[in-house]
Amino acid sequence: MKDVGIGEATGKIILMGEHAVVYGEPAIAFPFNGTKIVATLSESATATNTVTSSYHTGKLADTPDNLANIRALTARLQKEFGASAFHLQIDSTIPAERGMGSSAAVAVAITRAFFDWQDRPLTEEQLLFYVNFSEQIAHGNPSGIDAAATSGSQPIFFLKNKEIIPFPLHLDAYLLVADTGIKGQTRAAVKSVAELYEVDQAFTSNHLQQIGRLTRHAQHAIMSNHPQELGLLMTEAHLRLASLHVSNSELNNYIRLALAEGALGAKLTGGGRGGCFIVLTKSKDDAIRIGRKLKVAGVKDAWLQGLGVYQYA
Ligand code: MEV
Repeated sequence: MKDVGIGEATGKIILMGEHAVVYGEPAIAFPFNGTKIVATLSESATATNTVTSSYHTGKLADTPDNLANIRALTARLQKEFGASAFHLQIDSTIPAERGMGSSAAVAVAITRAFFDWQDRPLTEEQLLFYVNFSEQIAHGNPSGIDAAATSGSQPIFFLKNKEIIPFPLHLDAYLLVADTGIKGQTRAAVKSVAELYEVDQAFTSNHLQQIGRLTRHAQHAIMSNHPQELGLLMTEAHLRLASLHVSNSELNNYIRLALAEGALGAKLTGGGRGGCFIVLTKSKDDAIRIGRKLKVAGVKDAWLQGLGVYQYA
């Protein structure tokens, strides 16, 4: 066993396919290096498990309910390793509850830190097993895409319960990732789609299947470097997600603004109902200009993501 165990993870961006992926449709996601989380584990100075984080500092048992996943995950790992009482420190730049996969990322970082602390090798399978255990508690019915995207280093094509296929994202375009500053509600949004499915299966499954179709087309658009086509597919995916009631007026307004300013496409990303959205632009200048306009309109934060053809800091 080591004195200190360290684990890291990144945020994630779902480019296409959120919500539909829960119903077996494909999704495209990538790790988002603009944001990161580090978990550090060491033996507790007291006989109690303690935590230092932006949410809570003190006894782990006293953490608020939105950290129930962390309590359950650490309890499980501690029991399985027969580990002593620990102190867990969480340092994160991933905005919480904004569709960037912060709950999965914290689970990835903690699992890695635990195995590192105990000086044991960790396989990809083990990692996904523990992260999915934690995500069941955080999200109720996760597809597993957040776990896969926050633990890897490459863009992925993802199908629930199937092999995860990494691929190079070479696209002659820029992606602006913007945070509405409004907490998203992934758990509630996933549940409400499930309820809509119960009430009107034909309507709901039609939209979900069409999102699946758009994602498959997006895969071709990416592979053949057709950003304009990808943009149109993204915007249509957003409209279909809005029809499934997982958008909100702020997201819709920002997306309308981005499109009016010449974006190739724009959509919410992740669970929706707040959180982040993504804007595809042809040029870096467009991305910067639209990012500025969005900030003036009220967006809290914005990042630029390289899509492979152009790389920049
Ligand atoms: C959340 O980042 C993505 C959703 O599709 C839920 C999931 O796939 O677990 C909304």
